[in-house]
Amino acid sequence: MLPSNRNRQQPRAGRSWSFSEMDFSDPKRKPRFLSKLVMLAFLTAMCILMLTHPQYHSSCPSVFAVREPGVTHVLVTGGAGYIGSHAALRLLTDSYRVTIVDNLSRGNIGAIKVLQKLFPQPGRLQFIYADLGDAKSVNRIFSENAFDAVMHFAAVAYVGESTLEPLRYYHNITANTLVVLEAMAAHGVKTLIYSSTCATYGEPEKMPITEETPQVPINPYGKAKKMAEEIILDFSKSADLAVMILRYFNVIGSDPEGRLGEAPRPELREHGRISGACFDAALGIIPGLKVKGTDYETPDGTCIRDYIDVTDLVDAHVKALDKAQRGKVGIYNVGTGKGRSVKEFVDACKKATGADIKIDYFPRRPGDYAEVYSDPTKINRDLNWTAQRTDLLESLRVAWRWQKLHRSGYGAPLAATI
Ligand SMILES: NC(=O)c1ccc[n+]([C@@H]2O[C@H](COP(=O)([O-])OP(=O)(O)OC[C@H]3O[C@@H](n4cnc5c(N)ncnc54)[C@H](O)[C@@H]3O)[C@@H](O)[C@H]2O)c1
Ligand SMILES: *[C@@H]1O[C@H](CO)[C@@H](O)[C@H](O)[C@H]1NC(C)=O
Ligand SMILES: *[C@@H]1O[C@H](CO)[C@@H](O)[C@H](O)[C@H]1NC(C)=O
Ligand SMILES: *[C@@H]1O[C@H](CO)[C@@H](O)[C@H](O)[C@H]1NC(C)=O
Repeated sequence: MLPSNRNRQQPRAGRSWSFSEMDFSDPKRKPRFLSKLVMLAFLTAMCILMLTHPQYHSSCPSVFAVREPGVTHVLVTGGAGYIGSHAALRLLTDSYRVTIVDNLSRGNIGAIKVLQKLFPQPGRLQFIYADLGDAKSVNRIFSENAFDAVMHFAAVAYVGESTLEPLRYYHNITANTLVVLEAMAAHGVKTLIYSSTCATYGEPEKMPITEETPQVPINPYGKAKKMAEEIILDFSKSADLAVMILRYFNVIGSDPEGRLGEAPRPELREHGRISGACFDAALGIIPGLKVKGTDYETPDGTCIRDYIDVTDLVDAHVKALDKAQRGKVGIYNVGTGKGRSVKEFVDACKKATGADIKIDYFPRRPGDYAEVYSDPTKINRDLNWTAQRTDLLESLRVAWRWQKLHRSGYGAPLAATI
């Protein structure tokens, strides 16, 4: 168990000055004491300014720059996003030190603010606004922070969008992963937990999907993720890395305590996932749900998917981080092993929201496959992980509670807040 990060002293990492050089304890020299107090207030203000403006960061003494025995410092890329924010919450709750890097292109500053409010103590959580496509910034971030591990969530992640804008996907998934790996190499960070996806498998003939199922992705999203996996695998062979690649199935749900939720940009709605569509329909934002394909060879004719609650998913990340070993790569499917049909999903959605959602049936959408579900035997055996919280109805109920209370997501978009 890691010790608590609370009550930590500010380490003296300053370049040109440090708090320790000041002597506050001499009662005979009141005037100097006062001027020092003013000086301290000034420096503190400077420091806050620097912390909130990453471009000045380099001269601010930072707890995050120093390795501390017993404290694991995790870089969470994409930590303003849906899964990344839930992962950061879990890591912080478990006393990890967390640095989030996100350029808010798709995430929410509101999620960061929630986390900052929950963990205001020094040395717990740091947010850095930066673009992972910018190798210079990424390098500076690595040189100014002592990371023990990286959880790399940042990506663009919509299958439909990837077929329309493939370059966006190869750039922001494959190329950006390369930037992160180069920075890890240059700065000796040896542990990586990578967010991959069942989309790397494509349309396997045999179900369930094991980690040995051949990867034949059928869209740029799946291909970009598979390429990133391959780069990671090749690099890990020569670099003595501890790597865990997690291939998620369909992620649903949100924090059971209602602190965080899923709030994609409204303009991404058309590419959205089924749970988002369900809530939008329940809120009346869209007229109803479109079920595409009712003649698949499945018990009720609709497609079958493996839904995994985000709380279980982030639990898999913490277990993977805990078990990651130098010179080893672990590849794991993260799903429940149980498929649920679109019809079952829609019924659960109606029940969870209490809304009488209008359902329209359409012919099959090209590229959709009948059944996808995982075989979670390996992760169960190696990491002692099983889905504990996933329950279609309950997961949707929890997510719905947040949606209902946050009709416009986390509120004002970033432009106003930076
Ligand atoms: N949601 C799912 O069902 C699912 C399934 C399988 C895999 N995944 C993977 O999980 C990860 C997280 O997905 P999510 O659903 O939380 O997505 P999300 O869009 O909510 O979060 C992604 C985050 O990455 C950030 N980001 C993107 N490009 C960036 C860049 N260049 N620089 C800095 N930040 C950048 C975005 O601002 C956003 O906050 C992704 O890698 C995705 O491929 C998700
Ligand atoms: C986020 O990063 C991308 C490059 O991956 C860049 O093109 C985009 O402008 C950035 N967005 C913001 C809001 O900084
Ligand atoms: C992704 O890459 C493209 C360049 O191909 C860029 O224009 C875009 O802003 C990037 N970022 C995101 C979040 O899509
Ligand atoms: C495995 O997980 C279960 C429940 O999550 C726990 O009770 C058990 O002690 C764990 N076993 C080991 C060997 O860690």
